[in-house]
Amino acid sequence: MNKTMLPGILDAMEDGVAVFDLEGTALFCNAAACALLHQKPEALKSIGDLPDEVRAFFGGVRSGRSETIELFGQAVRLHYQDLRENGMRAGAVLIMTDLGEQQRADRMRREFTANVSHELKTPLTSISGYAEMIENGMAKDEDVRVFAERIRRESNRMLSLVSDIIALSELEEQQILKNAETVDLHELAAETVETLKSAAMVRGVSVRLTGGPTPVFGVRTLLSELMYNLLDNAIRYNRDNGTVTVRTTDRQLSVRDTGIGIPKHHIGRIFERFYRVDKSRSKATGGTGLGLAIVKHIAEEHGAEITLESAEGIGTEITVTFPPVKDRTQ
Ligand SMILES: Nc1ncnc2c1ncn2[C@@H]1O[C@H](COP(=O)(O)OP(=O)(O)O)[C@@H](O)[C@H]1O
Ligand SMILES: [Mg+2]
Repeated sequence: MNKTMLPGILDAMEDGVAVFDLEGTALFCNAAACALLHQKPEALKSIGDLPDEVRAFFGGVRSGRSETIELFGQAVRLHYQDLRENGMRAGAVLIMTDLGEQQRADRMRREFTANVSHELKTPLTSISGYAEMIENGMAKDEDVRVFAERIRRESNRMLSLVSDIIALSELEEQQILKNAETVDLHELAAETVETLKSAAMVRGVSVRLTGGPTPVFGVRTLLSELMYNLLDNAIRYNRDNGTVTVRTTDRQLSVRDTGIGIPKHHIGRIFERFYRVDKSRSKATGGTGLGLAIVKHIAEEHGAEITLESAEGIGTEITVTFPPVKDRTQ
């Protein structure tokens, strides 16, 4: 490796790195450090130019020490290390980690775990309750069938929940675009419409497919999952004898329904995990509250944009716009 590559490498790091000599003159400051310090690289000339909180940390610590401070409203962990040259102290290295993102990710993970536990507990409690009544002979003969049906329904709900959770965690684990290819949105939409045909029929909803072939660059199984979730919602939150129109043109997929619509103040939140406008309606129809979170994740991975228009009592249209194929293959 060439030494001149070093600044470029340091600039690519997420952590901030700033280096000072023994006199306190600034020798180097990478992009992340300058951003955290709210400083331009050329403006940071010495330790004296550092914000007071950082200078205070520098003044009082020995090599190898860390401290978390608040810097311009962000939680930042500072770490100080002696810079050594041929075994001699030659200066100081300051390493800065932005804890904001990490803390937010930790909090989201904790919330997700709590939500999952809660969502799993509810069906399990009723399954165990019905089973217990049958076991104790508290259920009359004619009740047994009804209870068995409820046990089956609750188990199915748990199964959907567990498969959605697996889908989400797989999305997080994989470098999914490795399996990307050119996929025709129209062909995929036709397959999805076919899959959900009977679900639509049961609810008396008619599904139309319009538009024409339009290739995008993506992972077929994930795009299929995205479409499934949008179409499933358009059927699930429709009215009796309603319609759903799926359209594919110009790298766009849109799914429009004549359903209950989404109240304005909920629109910003429905892509969050487990967020549901009407929990009982979602549950009664077998929803998990994870469908749109999966849609959002898949769209992001594909560099696609989602827009949503909705009017209460009239219907909803969700449009996903994919980037041009050539952009993604470069
Ligand atoms: N097409 C739609 N029309 C009306 N409401 C919708 C539609 N799509 C989603 N929603 C609302 O957004 C919530 C979240 O959707 P989703 O993540 O797919 O979870 P769910 O499993 O409840 O369908 C739904 O519970 C519903 O309140
Ligand atoms: Mg859904």
